[in-house]
Amino acid sequence: MDLSDAINGRRSTRDFMAEAVDEECIRRLIDAAVCAPSASNGQEWTFTVVRDQALLDRISEAAKAHMLTILPADPQSERRRTTLSDPAFHIFYHAPALILVAGTTPTPWVVEDCALAAQNLMLAAHGEGLGSCWIGYAQRYLDTPEGKDVLGLPASYVPVAPIIVGHPTTMPASVARKEPEIRWVG
Ligand SMILES: Cc1cc2nc3c(=O)[nH]c(=O)nc-3n(C[C@H](O)[C@H](O)[C@H](O)COP(=O)(O)O)c2cc1C
Repeated sequence: MDLSDAINGRRSTRDFMAEAVDEECIRRLIDAAVCAPSASNGQEWTFTVVRDQALLDRISEAAKAHMLTILPADPQSERRRTTLSDPAFHIFYHAPALILVAGTTPTPWVVEDCALAAQNLMLAAHGEGLGSCWIGYAQRYLDTPEGKDVLGLPASYVPVAPIIVGHPTTMPASVARKEPEIRWVG
């Protein structure tokens, strides 16, 4: 796939077929992820693949409950509170797989390193005809001792990017972009 087609065509996907994503394909996504740059070429990341739907259901419920305890009491959070309080809302949209990109060491650039790997992974997923979405709602819970325990992550690991992947039912419409502020200095 042409690079600009990949960048422009990737969409956050929230509607998936039940069809599984095979292991070879997930390995190719991770191969693309690790091509990302990292601070001092540290590559201090790890990829946790979850395909057990019962486990994803359990994490979804726990992450929703956790988010509700930490959402700030401001008007902006009200819409999120309503969504998270809906028993039918599944934070992973019943995707067949979750790939959590986490840092193995809390370096000063662990978030940047893992986020770059995650973007590569999402672009590679698009190249494979798969849909993906970063699930921020899972992030805070997975960064708790309980969340790490559920995935068997060591306490020192830093969960950064929970990415769902799967075969999309339909290609989502593109989301409008704001005009970027560009400041030319000099
Ligand atoms: C850090 C981050 C957290 C996100 N968290 C969620 C989430 O919890 N649930 C969700 O449905 N989408 C989530 N998204 C997806 C964004 O809503 C999406 O990227 C944005 O609407 C732009 O749409 P596009 O990805 O199709 O271009 C997240 C994206 C990022 C980068």
